[in-house]
Amino acid sequence: MASGNIPVKMNAIVISEPGGPLVLKLERRDVPKPGPGEILIRVHAAGVNRPDVQQRKGVYPPPPGASDLPGLEVAGEVAALGPGAERWRVGDRVCALTPGGGYAEYVKVHGTHALPLPAGFTYTEAAALPETFFTVWHNVFERGALKSGETLLVHGGSSGIGTTAIQLASAFGAQVIATAGSKEKCDTCLRLGAGRAVNYHEEDFVQAVKEATDGKGANVILDMVGGDYVGRNYRAAAVEGRIVQIATQSGAVASADFSRLMVKRLVHSGSTLRPRSVEFKGAVAAALEAQVWPLLAVRRVAPVLDMIFPLKEAWRAHERMEEGEHIGKIVLDVG
Ligand SMILES: NC(=O)c1ccc[n+]([C@@H]2O[C@H](COP(=O)([O-])OP(=O)(O)OC[C@H]3O[C@@H](n4cnc5c(N)ncnc54)[C@H](OP(=O)(O)O)[C@@H]3O)[C@@H](O)[C@H]2O)c1
Repeated sequence: MASGNIPVKMNAIVISEPGGPLVLKLERRDVPKPGPGEILIRVHAAGVNRPDVQQRKGVYPPPPGASDLPGLEVAGEVAALGPGAERWRVGDRVCALTPGGGYAEYVKVHGTHALPLPAGFTYTEAAALPETFFTVWHNVFERGALKSGETLLVHGGSSGIGTTAIQLASAFGAQVIATAGSKEKCDTCLRLGAGRAVNYHEEDFVQAVKEATDGKGANVILDMVGGDYVGRNYRAAAVEGRIVQIATQSGAVASADFSRLMVKRLVHSGSTLRPRSVEFKGAVAAALEAQVWPLLAVRRVAPVLDMIFPLKEAWRAHERMEEGEHIGKIVLDVG
């Protein structure tokens, strides 16, 4: 089933070769055809994520079978249904996690990885949801098992991931401590619900966490930094704390005092979303729809939008992300 006027070719941003932002070029590509269980989305907006920057540099290749185009999340209208994609109808307004290919006018995704546009959301807002909400839900609430009344420490609190984690954790009744690299970024963390924001250029987060928790430490730590944060996280964690690693921006190789891990009975875990199975991502989507979509509908939780660029200026969006001044999400307007 298709919407009748799907073109053969579309505009898409390709990674012409590994390198800086200017390797992102506008090209004409074939419109993808949805396979079994898949839907074709006419993309109106696409989210920009740090992993796209890594892919552009050639250090984060797409998993086997995925589009070579960048872009892990979109919002738009369902334009065609593959066989067996039963939930959706042509014209439905959705946002979706993609296996790649989001920087384009059309993308195919598995039907179970799409969610309805939350009530009152624009396409631009909805495109900023999937990648960070899937990642935070799984890592903070499933892997980290954060509970109401516990304390979450979020590093990179002003990032797309961090702004989502602060809001969701506080909406579910946790206390949040966030780290960020400037006063403006710390102020955003506080506005979003963190009880304490630590400018890591000026303060030691281990000390700040101890002070904020009467010496107990954080029950869950979401870390995208790695390097020397690994050992420091062990110091900041509470007994039976759970540390979840989602990136290693300061280094993937670290030395740490593992006696702390034993004495405090810590669990240090981690995950990457993109290579996970269709079934796994479908299960996360279902959990989000049941537990988080109602919060979006009443704006208890909402994406923090930094800047919006037209699709053809995707290179500017990557420049903005690499400058590191952004707060929240950068989005591409696909038209
Ligand atoms: N594992 C997964 O499934 C998964 C999925 C999606 C994203 N990720 C990862 O999650 C991270 C955030 O993604 P995003 O798209 O939200 O990116 P983003 O908005 O660009 O955020 C990156 C953040 O990292 C912080 N940071 C970088 N280097 C740091 C350092 N040395 N010390 C402290 N903080 C540092 C920055 O904070 P300041 O500006 O305050 O320094 C910034 O807020 C990325 O590393 C991404 O690769 C992982």
